[in-house]
Amino acid sequence: MAEHITVIKGSKAQQYQSLLPQIEALVSTEADVIANLANICAALKESMGFFWVGFYRAETPDMLVLGPFQGPVACTRIPRGKGVCGVVLEQRKTLIVPNVDEFPGHIACSSASKSEIVLPIFSKGKVAWVLDVDSDRLNDFDETDQHWLEKITVMVGLML
Ligand code: SME
Repeated sequence: MAEHITVIKGSKAQQYQSLLPQIEALVSTEADVIANLANICAALKESMGFFWVGFYRAETPDMLVLGPFQGPVACTRIPRGKGVCGVVLEQRKTLIVPNVDEFPGHIACSSASKSEIVLPIFSKGKVAWVLDVDSDRLNDFDETDQHWLEKITVMVGLML
């Protein structure tokens, strides 16, 4: 297993490009899903400088429960249709929120969080988990983040 992650300086796309194979290597030798999700959070937060990175698990089709994460303490349960994560559980597609204060029903786990991206993780055709990444800067996520983070969600889906 890789003992540390090193990300090159450069554009966001170049940083993700250098990070992805290291995350693949990190999880490739471990079968435990929780351990791998925990390390993915740490790798993403440390290397990309995000404010909060974490996974929520669909305990039932109607309820997300907090899983492995890195960052400040977060809300533990999010019902389907509530907040950005709950809407992603419902709509089954990635959401980019440039300004969380403008998202109806946004759940503010921390007032420092300004923008976020939430991606569904599919297993057997169902949303099994979501990946939530928060930034303390407005408008910090775009299609580049979506493109690369979706590679991670596909990778995780294959582990489940
Ligand atoms: N903001 C999220 C809740 C999770 S925290 O940001 C960690 C939401 O609205 O679903």
